[in-house]
Amino acid sequence: MLSHQIITTADGSTTIQIPEWNEQYHSKHGAIQEAKHVFLETGLAALDLDFFRKENKAITILEAGFGTGLNALLTYFWAKENNIKINYISLEAFPVATNEILNLNYPEQVNDAKAAEIFQKIHAIPWNEKNEISPGFHLQKMHQKFDQLSLSNKANIVFYDAFGPRVQPDLWDINVLKLFRNALLNRGVFVTYCAKGSVRRTLESLNFNVQRMPGPPGKREMLRGELIDKVSEV
Ligand SMILES: C[S@@+](CC[C@H](N)C(=O)[O-])C[C@H]1O[C@@H](n2cnc3c(N)ncnc32)[C@H](O)[C@@H]1O
Repeated sequence: MLSHQIITTADGSTTIQIPEWNEQYHSKHGAIQEAKHVFLETGLAALDLDFFRKENKAITILEAGFGTGLNALLTYFWAKENNIKINYISLEAFPVATNEILNLNYPEQVNDAKAAEIFQKIHAIPWNEKNEISPGFHLQKMHQKFDQLSLSNKANIVFYDAFGPRVQPDLWDINVLKLFRNALLNRGVFVTYCAKGSVRRTLESLNFNVQRMPGPPGKREMLRGELIDKVSEV
């Protein structure tokens, strides 16, 4: 079992470090900053938010790696601010222990009086069931491995937040990424902090139109792909 240490990143928010891998759950340059930049400001911003508002339709997000729940927490407040409904599905094979969650400072770092209550709720709901966190925000945490994903034509966007290809190359392999492609609707968006050329080429081979986007502080680039002309599953 890999050991965990809680560290403080450059923006004051904490994250979990895995010393054996020299890898963190988030960027050392700022966990909250990175999560907002990659998944909210670059990922969700690529969707036609006016369409979802006008149609009163929820955006379905599929996350690879629930981890600390930071992305889910930040998405919750982003959605309230932007008047968007969210159906958030997140996969996690190795849930973080409750005592570690209690030592993360996200409730204090997120500037909202309800942050502690929402963070607690996000972690308290049972696994594998769709739960309402508040009206307009549903969360389903799936206790499963990425390669067991069997969703089809369901998600508007994938938040791909696996550990990096340096430490878990198998999670960036075409066979796994294909499952996430299959879970997306046509024109769906795939967003990740990773900027590796081999990952970009794999996504292109899966019919994504991939753009290199400016990365969060401390990282030059990241990737965002839009699924084009999804006809059938390969
Ligand atoms: C970079 S962290 C995710 C950070 C998370 N999004 C957050 O906001 O805290 C990657 C996560 O993937 C999980 N993971 C690693 N291998 C996995 C696998 N094969 N299937 C599912 N989850 C896996 C890890 O346990 C870890 O929680």
